Amino acid sequence: MMPIGPLMIEHRLIERMIEVMKQQLQTWEKEKKTDPSFIETAVDFIRTYADRCHHGKEEDILFRDLREKHISNDHKRIMEELLEEHRWGRETTGRLVEANEAYRNGDAEAASTILECVKALVEFYPKHIEKEDRHFFLPIMDYFSTEEKDAMLNEEYEFDRVLLHEIYRGKVKKAEEQLKI
Ligand SMILES: [Fe+2]
Ligand SMILES: [Fe+2]
Repeated sequence: MMPIGPLMIEHRLIERMIEVMKQQLQTWEKEKKTDPSFIETAVDFIRTYADRCHHGKEEDILFRDLREKHISNDHKRIMEELLEEHRWGRETTGRLVEANEAYRNGDAEAASTILECVKALVEFYPKHIEKEDRHFFLPIMDYFSTEEKDAMLNEEYEFDRVLLHEIYRGKVKKAEEQLKI
């Protein structure tokens, strides 16, 4: 498998979660309300899976190695756009977390920010994924030798293995800290 294989498989799971968020959003818009627990689940998915696990492998492995190559101006431009889009996604998710906290603490006004952020995210992800799947991932594979592609793929597997343990170490640490409060 090429190193873009696992990334494209991850895109399919991100799309499924985005579809759930889209459908939830339609209900909330009609009923003028939101669901803080669902937002927490969605934020955990976006931050842990879509950002740390998925964008992490794109940025720290694929894009890192691509920077070492003499790539076309077009590919350079698309890579910069993708990086900027990752940053925008983090920022928007951060706004969503803040608004969700406020809503949980009784600020009913925060619902409009929540709906606005969810709407922005469900519009953003499919476009971002399409840009990578259809206009970037396959063409950039031509810059790499078979050995380089294999090395990236192995590094991706190792990245996931380490990340899983890091996530749960973090959860235990947080639980320990809460015990002391
Ligand atoms: Fe991406
Ligand atoms: Fe991606």
